[in-house]
Amino acid sequence: MFMEKITASVKVLKSDLNKIKDNALLIGFFKDKLSLGAEIKKLDNKLSNIISSFIKNNNFKGEKGEAKTIYINKDIKNIVLVGLGEENRFTLDVLSNIIADVSKKLRENSTESFSIFLDTFSNNKFKYEEVIEKTTLSSLMGLYKFREYKTKENENAKQLKQITIITNSNKNFDNELKYASIVATALNKTRDLVNTPPNIATPQYIADYVKGICKNFVSKDKIFDCKIFDEKQIEKLKMGCFLGVAQGSANKPRLVVIEYYGVSKKQKPIAIVGKGVTFDSGGLNLKPYPFILNMKDDKAGAIAAVHIIEASAKLDLPVNLVVVIPLCENMPSSTSFRPDDVLTAYNGMTVEIKNTDAEGRLILADALSYAAEFKPQAIIDIATLTGASLIALGYIGTPFLSTDGKISERIKEASKKSLEKVWEFPLWPEYEENLKSDIADLKHISEEGDAGVIMGATFLKNFVNGIPWAHIDIGTTVWSKVDKGMLVKGATGATVRLMMEMLRDWKN
Ligand code: BES
Ligand code: ZN
Ligand code: ZN
Repeated sequence: MFMEKITASVKVLKSDLNKIKDNALLIGFFKDKLSLGAEIKKLDNKLSNIISSFIKNNNFKGEKGEAKTIYINKDIKNIVLVGLGEENRFTLDVLSNIIADVSKKLRENSTESFSIFLDTFSNNKFKYEEVIEKTTLSSLMGLYKFREYKTKENENAKQLKQITIITNSNKNFDNELKYASIVATALNKTRDLVNTPPNIATPQYIADYVKGICKNFVSKDKIFDCKIFDEKQIEKLKMGCFLGVAQGSANKPRLVVIEYYGVSKKQKPIAIVGKGVTFDSGGLNLKPYPFILNMKDDKAGAIAAVHIIEASAKLDLPVNLVVVIPLCENMPSSTSFRPDDVLTAYNGMTVEIKNTDAEGRLILADALSYAAEFKPQAIIDIATLTGASLIALGYIGTPFLSTDGKISERIKEASKKSLEKVWEFPLWPEYEENLKSDIADLKHISEEGDAGVIMGATFLKNFVNGIPWAHIDIGTTVWSKVDKGMLVKGATGATVRLMMEMLRDWKN
């Protein structure tokens, strides 16, 4: 489906600096702390003091984001002095963005490989394990590019092939390398499919893509299993809200269910539900230009969920998971659902429609009730649910809401470790007032329009059958307008790092 990607590979090497042969060697400096450590001094001496004199003569200060190249043309072709900023403001997030930026810069200079002298990229605040994991993950994130539809650039696109992390630690870092490269692959595959245009990535296409993933896990004991339901089968299930949204499009809906068993089947699974609207035109409440642009990203929750379960299986995580993704397209036509329609959800509740552009919560309603039937210990949904998420936290962080304090804590802890910023919003019962319908059990939106993120979640809460649940609204953080640090313009792969960190740490 996607062309075989040549992605960089990352390895850790215990070596003397004097023995390194590479196109570039990266050395980090904190601001105004420019004296050379013992190992670099040795290298400097060997190179006739080229490093120390360069620092003196070129006004290198170690400012955050500064990167200056010294041309050596020996075993090491170039030495890159990398500024890390003030030492007391140094974090793993700062490190990750610097590594990603420098990786991009070297690739643009046609560098095919580089080495990082790790000891200069950290201080005593962080463990080597963390630094190696973040260095790997952030370089692979930064180097991502979506080239699928560039017919010319493809042939001679610049490729950075090898990154070597040099350290004098004797430890083995295989686990960190494995984790980081599997998570980076999951994140970049999520970006690929979310970036894929809506005429290609239809519900059927995504269902086929999932089938392809499942084939890679064929095993007799069925620890990884996919089921795909077509429109007829979804009708049989009586998923009235999902079908209501889907009925306006010629691209027919699919419901995809994936199960992964990493421990005894007796243990309750964690359910992950992802919004999979392959294009959100708004339906009869058609989105005006320019708001209709980019609505191919409305499938990002579903795509993230697929790659999260795939990565969990690759890592053999000791958890059971079930992923439920409703896939459909929201289009205006003579068969579309309308404002004022009343739909009957899978759980039997009736829902009065007020705006066909609030379609995500409708397809999720049915998917959540379906997921609840697995009797999971927790349900987490991932959805590009609201434009209001932009008002809430801007492009920096992702709002989430939960009915369960323990899940909230897990998400917050995972946020710290994964560096994906999230912030909790309340689900106070007062908000429920605004979803009362005159004629049905519920309205799906509040006509006042305030507290958009919370109202979306307040509606969804009706469909989880009391099971501990969290809702993550990636309406804004799904997409980056900038190419900066770990961000690359386009789909971000939001929640992949967060969820993987949470599942990695999950203890029942
Ligand atoms: N997919 C959109 C949310 C969205 C909008 C994400 C813009 C990213 C950028 C969702 O289906 C939607 O249209 N939500 C409406 C809800 C409203 C009608 C209550 C919104 O946020 O405007
Ligand atoms: Zn919409
Ligand atoms: Zn939508």
